[in-house]
Amino acid sequence: MPIIPSGAIGAKIIGWGTSLPQKVVTNDELSKTMDTSDEWIRERTGIERRHIGGTTASLSIESGRKAIEMSGIDPLSIDALVLSTTTPDRTVPATSATVQHGLSLRCGAFDVNAACSGFVYALITGHGLVAMGMKRILVIGTDTLSRITDWTDRNTAILFADGSGAAVIEASSGPGQLLGWDFDADGSLEDLLYAEIGGTLHMEGKEVFRRAVRIMVESAEKSIKAAGLTTNEIDLVVPHQANLRIIEAACKRLDIPMSRTSVVLNETGNTSSASIPLALFDAVDRGRVKSGDNVLLVGFGAGMTAASAVIKWNQS
Ligand code: UT7
Repeated sequence: MPIIPSGAIGAKIIGWGTSLPQKVVTNDELSKTMDTSDEWIRERTGIERRHIGGTTASLSIESGRKAIEMSGIDPLSIDALVLSTTTPDRTVPATSATVQHGLSLRCGAFDVNAACSGFVYALITGHGLVAMGMKRILVIGTDTLSRITDWTDRNTAILFADGSGAAVIEASSGPGQLLGWDFDADGSLEDLLYAEIGGTLHMEGKEVFRRAVRIMVESAEKSIKAAGLTTNEIDLVVPHQANLRIIEAACKRLDIPMSRTSVVLNETGNTSSASIPLALFDAVDRGRVKSGDNVLLVGFGAGMTAASAVIKWNQS
């Protein structure tokens, strides 16, 4: 469990933005083309509709532009772009290169692929770059899973969708917002959820579900401990938006009431790298997060990866 060294240069989020494709696909629409129903999807997943469309670069440019505008900074002052995605637009180059050009940045840019845990991996990486002397990092989480979904497979097609969320983090004079963090992977489980190059997603849903709850809880507990907090002191949990029942089971084990979670999956489906920033900034934009609140971000995904971070909102 990594403990942030005292005196390490910290960072905080100074601007954010999100982006969802315009096209909305409801459960009823899906039930016209495959053997499923709105009732089944709502009951077993909590999903009601999802947004489909766009490319990873186009959605990232939109969310990234909003985050830069909100932060009020000169794009040329951004030192690095870290893009979390499992669905790059091309094999080569990294989609972050396209996004860097689209946003007129002049900085290093690279992709991170840690599946649905990716945004938290990227946020932690951004903080690491700040600790190494950089001042401003643009962290984006984007996926266009609809492009690697088999739209005849009811096991996966009901879940996956597209979206993007972005944050500008800036070096701060104080300890910064990141209080504790953790990430992990277990590659022996890669066959539970995978897509071959050029292929579509295959998933052992039940087994992913079972393991997801356990690894989310384990990772969250490590981050909370590293932050020097207890679960009672977590004001808001922002979990990966995969399945409402997974979120409920994990929160129950953590002894955190559902009233202290952010859930957007009913509107978004599972957008992988975008799911945590979409849920975080939805809560912030609705005024659910106050300055000084302790916010737990926790994700899991293919690989099987897990990642979590406790941030103190707006701490400088
Ligand atoms: O980012 C990480 C990504 N992945 C996940 O987090 C996925 C984790 N897993 C899940 O969310 C759930 O396992 C699913 C939503 C995929 C499936 O839910 P479940 O409660 O595990 O359902 P199940 O596979 O046990 O299936 C229960 C029943 C079966 O019928 P019988 O055998 O009981 O007659 C399935 O054939 O539901 C049937 N079924 C469906 N029925 C209508 C399975 N999928 C569907 C469907 N519509 N889409």
